[in-house]
Amino acid sequence: MTDEKRQMFGNRLAKMARHLGKQAKRQSISCYRVYDHDLPEFPFCIELYEDRIYLAEYKRRHGMTDEEHLAWLEDCLPVITEVLGIPDERIYFRQRQRKAGRQGQYEKLSSEQEFFAVREGGLQFLVNLSDYLDTGLFLDHRITRGMVRNEARDKRVLNLFCYTGSFSVYAAAGGAALVHSVDLSRTYLDWAVRNMALNDLLSPAASFIHADVKQHLDLLPPDFYDLVIMDPPTFSNSKRMKDFLDIQRDHVELLNKALISMRTGGVMYFSTNFRRFQLDREKILASSIKDITGATTPFDFQGKLFRFCYRIMK
Ligand SMILES: C[S@@+](CC[C@H](N)C(=O)[O-])C[C@H]1O[C@@H](n2cnc3c(N)ncnc32)[C@H](O)[C@@H]1O
Repeated sequence: MTDEKRQMFGNRLAKMARHLGKQAKRQSISCYRVYDHDLPEFPFCIELYEDRIYLAEYKRRHGMTDEEHLAWLEDCLPVITEVLGIPDERIYFRQRQRKAGRQGQYEKLSSEQEFFAVREGGLQFLVNLSDYLDTGLFLDHRITRGMVRNEARDKRVLNLFCYTGSFSVYAAAGGAALVHSVDLSRTYLDWAVRNMALNDLLSPAASFIHADVKQHLDLLPPDFYDLVIMDPPTFSNSKRMKDFLDIQRDHVELLNKALISMRTGGVMYFSTNFRRFQLDREKILASSIKDITGATTPFDFQGKLFRFCYRIMK
């Protein structure tokens, strides 16, 4: 890589780090995204998890041989460590496909099992930057999690597709009467249990349900929940499922079934990362649907977030 290119990357990263670092500090945020493909020639996503760096390279046709690519990467790394002031051994590198959703990102990569706790909103979350494609904490939903905490008091909460349970932790911390967390992955449900325990929020009021959401929705009592979180993958297919899940095809059915399980006046947060998603509003049996994509986009994702978020009331 030429010195000029290296400098260009370093300057841009430094600018982003300065600008976003200030905002993070002002809001006491210690985990945030500092760079996301800001220069097309450097197709990285860089997130800070306190004193560690999660570095992902988006796959693309770069025309380099494996050796050339490795050399290029080895040129980029010192720029990142120097600008961010974090040594090599605390950089966690990943390569990921750029896809229209989050599909395919849930398989395990290795078995190092290096978990560590980070802070967000006065709570703690276990993150793993080496063993899975995603880190365990989706930083783009920081604001949404805060909303859930703010309205959880005495509420019956259902967290569908709960992943590592970060929304469940916020709901429990906000004083929810009960929190039911549902996911198809045992690994992630266990992680959710550990996140609850880490915050001293494990209690009989917190249950963790290993199930396919599509099937589980048919078992729910009507008029029961006050607050529902639904953040599904774009597609999902598994031996445990009767049918695959396609969020564009299935969202009306999923939302309507969740609405049946809610009390009148109850609120559901629904989010999807499917870039071409189109909400079929007329078919959803809600009293109001508000697009809160903008209101839930944090400072470190401005102009870069390709997901939708809705506040749906029964
Ligand atoms: C996008 S993540 C959810 C992120 C989570 N709401 C958060 O903010 O941390 C999707 C999750 O859905 C789970 N999942 C995929 N298909 C499922 C299904 N049919 N039923 C239940 N969970 C499923 C995956 O295991 C994964 O944990």
